[in-house]
Amino acid sequence: MLKSLHSTDIGPTALNDTRKFFPALQNNTAYLDSASTCQVPTTVIDAISTYLSTGHGNAQRGMYQFSENASNLHQLCREKVAEFINAPQGSDIIFTKSATESINLVAHSLRLGLRQSLTPEHSILITVMEHHANLLPWQRLCQQTGARLNILPINKNGVLDSSALETYLNDNCALFAITHISNVTGIVNDVKSLCKTGHQYKVPVLIDGAQAVGHRQVDVSQIDCDYYVFSGHKMYAATGIGVLYCKSLDNDPLEPLLLGGGIVNKVTLDSYKLKPTVEKFEAGSANMLGIVGLIGAIEFIDNIGWPALNAHERKVSGYLLNALRSIEGIKVLPNDAGSAVISFVHQQVHSHDVASILALENVAVRAGHHCAQPYLKAMGFKHCVRVSLGCYSSFADVDRLVVALGEVEVMFAGV
Ligand SMILES: Cc1ncc(COP(=O)(O)O)c(C=O)c1O
Repeated sequence: MLKSLHSTDIGPTALNDTRKFFPALQNNTAYLDSASTCQVPTTVIDAISTYLSTGHGNAQRGMYQFSENASNLHQLCREKVAEFINAPQGSDIIFTKSATESINLVAHSLRLGLRQSLTPEHSILITVMEHHANLLPWQRLCQQTGARLNILPINKNGVLDSSALETYLNDNCALFAITHISNVTGIVNDVKSLCKTGHQYKVPVLIDGAQAVGHRQVDVSQIDCDYYVFSGHKMYAATGIGVLYCKSLDNDPLEPLLLGGGIVNKVTLDSYKLKPTVEKFEAGSANMLGIVGLIGAIEFIDNIGWPALNAHERKVSGYLLNALRSIEGIKVLPNDAGSAVISFVHQQVHSHDVASILALENVAVRAGHHCAQPYLKAMGFKHCVRVSLGCYSSFADVDRLVVALGEVEVMFAGV
């Protein structure tokens, strides 16, 4: 049995006071930007620190203890991630640097025409709700191959309008890529049902789970997606580590994005033979700090437990929504009840000005287009202020936001 470096029993009852596990939040910051990146708990920091101070090694390289230990942790992380998202086995998990890289890896493989040679007869299907990470790689793929990029629209409530779904799904549709949860509105897509429909037409489905993994129990076997992507830093790990889950890697014509050390069985000056295993997608030295941090983050979430996490976020989200709705001059964007993301616009003040004034009050939110310009445009906005929650978010953070929004009024009164 492989063992991780750190395991702290936090327990489900401690959630009201989760903030104490986050050293960065011991100052006065009301951190309301977890959709961008999460703060990191002590257990993750300690796991990384312990790893570094007990011997840093290059995974799958050396015969000595530091390297063997790194290899074990690397393998443990694959198994932990598989268990975390209920993938059948660790060998279904490819480590990347981010959700963005995971999507690009799939797009790269399609460009090479390994699953099917894309021509102007073919299409890729996405939705207007996508983060640019799940839009630009498909735009480029279509520009390069002449394939058509079909886009499912939204209705007036910002919700996916899938009435045209079946008109886009056919033998020529090479992939359907869709976000699990929107990073702008927090609206949750019924990815299980969308996968089922896609598969009726034999179209593989990729789910962008960047905003889901830190907020709900993801079950890729139940969703039955072909690919599921996410980043560690949106679930309390460090930046620089991402995941691509692939349903049937043995039969999937995925092609490595990077070539280099650690992925080959045999190399000559004019040829190479890739390993047949998942390692072939991970050229170069593994991001061991990312790996160790991801193990720690999974253990952190497991220790709290999804029921407690979900109940807490739902409670704070409801409080936030009520608070924002009660403030005059603020228009709340469409949202999903209980979601960890709620956005709004101030009717007189630009979102960047709002966020700057909030920052003066040590209230951290994000303002702008949130890398989802087409979605905002489709809802009739150019920018918005996004408030997003994590397990450490509290009513007090929301109260601080409300007070700081009062400052916006004061500063802009009469302008
Ligand atoms: C829905 C969604 N997809 C993809 C990404 C890209 O994540 P990363 O920057 O970690 O690759 C983000 C980042 O905010 C996101 O919110």
